Amino acid sequence: MGELLDKTAALDAAYHMGTYTRKPVMFVRGEGIRLYDDVGREYLDFVSGIGAVNLGHAHPAVTAAITEQAAKLVHVSNLFHVEHRARLAEMLVMLAGGGRKVFFANSGTESVEGAIKLARRWGKLNKGPECYRIITAERSFHGRTLGALTATAQPSKQEAFAPLLPGFTHVPLNDLAALEATVDETVCAIMLEVVQGEGGVHPCTPEYLTAVRTLCDERGVLLVVDEVQTGMFRTGPAFAHQAFGIEADIMTLAKALANGLPIGAIVATDEVAAAFAPGDHGSTFGGGPVICAAALATVHELGAGRLGEQAIVVGAYLKDALTAYAEKTGEVADVRGRGLMVAAELSRPIAARVAEGALARGVVLNNIGDSVIRFLPPLVCKEAEIDTLLATVQAVVEEN
Ligand SMILES: Cc1ncc(COP(=O)(O)O)c(C=O)c1O
Repeated sequence: MGELLDKTAALDAAYHMGTYTRKPVMFVRGEGIRLYDDVGREYLDFVSGIGAVNLGHAHPAVTAAITEQAAKLVHVSNLFHVEHRARLAEMLVMLAGGGRKVFFANSGTESVEGAIKLARRWGKLNKGPECYRIITAERSFHGRTLGALTATAQPSKQEAFAPLLPGFTHVPLNDLAALEATVDETVCAIMLEVVQGEGGVHPCTPEYLTAVRTLCDERGVLLVVDEVQTGMFRTGPAFAHQAFGIEADIMTLAKALANGLPIGAIVATDEVAAAFAPGDHGSTFGGGPVICAAALATVHELGAGRLGEQAIVVGAYLKDALTAYAEKTGEVADVRGRGLMVAAELSRPIAARVAEGALARGVVLNNIGDSVIRFLPPLVCKEAEIDTLLATVQAVVEEN
């Protein structure tokens, strides 16, 4: 442990609320997929700030956009026009296929919170005052503020904060009959992650997702797709649901949109967005000039670098390598995910120890619970780095 890490850990213990269990490492610099700690050790990053740094660390175009804008103007609020905000909204609408409007927030949970409000407002205006229920999937994760936490169907995260919001129902993922039985005239929206991230990397099946879209059309219910983790080319296309040929009525974004700076966005069809009137929703910081300059540079670089295509190719390489390892050793019970959002379900409950052992060997990994290792590298990740990852995982699993 370096001296700076020691001091910082002591300050955290004394002054920061105990909401996080932090690792005994402090990163002070990054470049691409690489991170460097306070004593100069190099690491390969397969977490990327929990899927927030898709371009890799300290991308020069993003750094230039931030510094240039920060030197000119940092904040004016939403009372005034901001060029980068308007241009970013246009870019997101184009990526989503046109015919949409955007609202900018500051995080994933705030985007979800706004999406819940928008869906309720649309339901009440179009289908009557009793149309406000929202259906989400068991094991989902949509955030930690009270509305988003109610949508998050994980009792372990909810119970301590009851009572939560009324009007939410949870159904098993990929079970169309359960969903059909739950949708009635009080339901304004169904909200899904295309691949459940925090719940352990569980994808929707293509049949389910397309059938949910059809069900929404038949019953006049909105489809809200939470793309906070799956968006921004993480799984290949700009937004994961686009791979299934379906459209979202409302989509939430955050995480990688500004390559690691705090931002969130709600993208809704013109018809749905019209349910919000002036004063219905707002944010002091949402869509600020610096964040939007960073996001514009991020979206441009993700596209120019064809990183969605790289995510598909390198993600397939990772899944193949994990599958071969599973077949050879029996240490991996399941490999799942899309693009560079991949998980290995271990056969033994040693995921936390594997992540710890890998960190000691210079590979940053994330475990979800006892058995799942999640891989969310920056999209600039190459096959050679996957080879190092696999060799490390193999060595650490053998030690345990
Ligand atoms: C799908 C999804 N929605 C919402 C959130 C909440 O985002 P944030 O932590 O930025 O509030 C997350 C965070 O992991 C997420 O994965």
